[in-house]
Amino acid sequence: MKNNIDKRVEELLSKMTIEEKIGQLHQSGVSIVGAFEVSFEELINMLTDGRITPKEFEEYMSNAEEDFHEDDIRAGRISSFNGVHGAEKVNRLQKIAVEESRLGIPLLIGADIIHGCKTTFPIPLAESCSWDEKLWEKTSEIAADEASSLGIAWTFAPMIDIARDPRWGRISEGAGEDPYLVSKFAVAKVKGFQGEDVSDPNRLLACAKHFVAYGACEGGRDYNTTDMSKQRLHEVYLPPFKAAVKAGCQTIMPAFNDLNGVPCSMNNYLLKDVLRNEYKFDGMLISDANAIHECVIHGAVENRKEAALKSLSAGLDMDMTSNCYIENVKKLTENGDLSIEDLDTAVKNVLRVKFRKGLFDNPYITDSNREKETVSNAKFRPLAKESALNSIVLLKNDGILPLKRDMKIGVVGNLADDKWETIGAWAIMADGDNCISVLEGIKNYKNDVSYEKCIEKDKINEEEVDKICSENDIIIAVVGEGRDMTGEASSKADITMPKVQQDLVKSILNRGKRVIIVLMNGRPLDLSWEDKNVNAIVEAWQLGTEMGNAVSDVLFGEFNPCGKLTTTFPYNVGQCPIYYNHPSTGRPAGKSKFTSKYLDMPVEPLYPFGYGLSYTTFKYNDLRAVFNNSGDLEVSIKVKNTGNMDGNEVVQVYVQDMVASRVRPVKELKSFKKVFIKSGEEMDISFLIKNDDLGYYNEEMNYITEKGTFKVFVGGSSKEVLDTEVEL
Ligand code: BGC
Repeated sequence: MKNNIDKRVEELLSKMTIEEKIGQLHQSGVSIVGAFEVSFEELINMLTDGRITPKEFEEYMSNAEEDFHEDDIRAGRISSFNGVHGAEKVNRLQKIAVEESRLGIPLLIGADIIHGCKTTFPIPLAESCSWDEKLWEKTSEIAADEASSLGIAWTFAPMIDIARDPRWGRISEGAGEDPYLVSKFAVAKVKGFQGEDVSDPNRLLACAKHFVAYGACEGGRDYNTTDMSKQRLHEVYLPPFKAAVKAGCQTIMPAFNDLNGVPCSMNNYLLKDVLRNEYKFDGMLISDANAIHECVIHGAVENRKEAALKSLSAGLDMDMTSNCYIENVKKLTENGDLSIEDLDTAVKNVLRVKFRKGLFDNPYITDSNREKETVSNAKFRPLAKESALNSIVLLKNDGILPLKRDMKIGVVGNLADDKWETIGAWAIMADGDNCISVLEGIKNYKNDVSYEKCIEKDKINEEEVDKICSENDIIIAVVGEGRDMTGEASSKADITMPKVQQDLVKSILNRGKRVIIVLMNGRPLDLSWEDKNVNAIVEAWQLGTEMGNAVSDVLFGEFNPCGKLTTTFPYNVGQCPIYYNHPSTGRPAGKSKFTSKYLDMPVEPLYPFGYGLSYTTFKYNDLRAVFNNSGDLEVSIKVKNTGNMDGNEVVQVYVQDMVASRVRPVKELKSFKKVFIKSGEEMDISFLIKNDDLGYYNEEMNYITEKGTFKVFVGGSSKEVLDTEVEL
């Protein structure tokens, strides 16, 4: 099969003109003509930065005429589109490419299918809190099914950037701060999108992004510079990409940022040494939108021509919509700056992926019937609900939860009654009208709850607050950040609750009511005030299509919450970046003044990594750890459900290498299992951690596992753990 594809690639390449070769490296956007003349990307930018609402976006799209540059397709000048969808439209364009272009090379249609397509699943940060690999895989399989029925063959996902700073708005798009967990997430997502057989027309090619260290942007400001040691790069930021490549991920997108002074789009070390030579990646690289051009703005090259030269020579195969390749590569080969070998390598990488995807043999992956049958099919809703339920994290509960059906309950907040707010920042194809708002979900369970919005144009409507408080004893305040406050280009320096949202909670507390906060948001917030003052906090994120029903099941105890945080919630923004697996300092925080801490703030976070409450309690005991003859670490523990409700628990194993030739983190997640334990029952749980997984990069950048003492911690969060020491 492999040889066969290589042969077909070589044969095709030998027939191509230089223009056709360059065409294969060009991804086009769609121009929108009519409503106003902007590219599809610009329209998406307008949507993501809040200049237009999702509804306006849909309107523009349905009224505007799109220009697909059909003559360019016919002439072989376009390899791929970003964002085109709809079976009929895609097949029409594909027909031009396959039947009317000289060589009949099929188009590769890509789109951002991040957490669902029309049916929307929880935002990735939320979904990661389920710690459930099967679920992660299943939701991307269904997203792939829906998206491919619309003619899409390739998704720009999974986003597997490690994020340790909640100021960064794109923290919502990834799976949190831990390299081990994000690697598991990466593998599950690649499998779910691509399936066993990459050529399956019901699946999508995956694209691991953003390569790499995009989440380490200074100050948590999107697109900002990053600078770090090679050890940190390879121990923290690269592992998810290594895992994705190993899982067969077919495409990778370099990040916008520069790393140690070189933009990732033209970074030889990253794209060649690490990706191609070390990881043996044999798929295709696609730039981020306009990123090749932005090398000029970085000041890393003189002009667009040099940007094209440096990026292509570094191994960046396809240009996403900057037009730098299509405008310059011919000249670069003519004057000898770029070798034909380098050009051919890139073209072969693109063609190989198109062959693997099966597009040469089956260019029409869908039709209108399949689209009609698949899109928003009600059969996907149970999975949307299951993923939403498992993503919810109970952060605080003074005993008020679960609620009882006969209680008098009021619901407040503008977010409560908004279907579109459930879909999160990066769900451009989502159908908000098809989503269940939190209020609807609660009403589906108990239809006599009262609702008042209580917020009008960023002001509290005191009359409405009076009304709802006079009728009810318990108020569910659905508060948080709107979906436009996270995602791309949505960094924030203040991560407390938006003022009006917090004011609403205050005005209810002032009237002596008990308050349960249902949080809707896409980043960890500073909840130090809320934690002190309200009765319960349910972290519900943005959970997609079935959000309301899932939240209501948790509130009323129909489902026992089991989500665990995959990212640290700071006590205050001044602690950022903050993460549990930080290296040991020589002066850990202690009583003495001269230790590593703040004068005005705790050094601990508000809620640590791995944390999340349940309606039951779990007791851990009998921790054992031993190295076996192969040097692998065997760990076992007994976990008992000591409360009154059956429940899931995420049992987490952390390890610390106590003495090493480079300073090691205070603890690192090395394994986990999510288990269902009935009330009163006890379970024996065991783990095997490979010797190789206990290593690190030494000063010479050799990966080693050193002999010595290791501390093993097991528990239901990174803080509440039993520990023991063991010798290797
Ligand atoms: C984002 C990418 C996305 C691309 C294509 C960019 O702005 O950074 O994550 O895949 O747009 O839509």
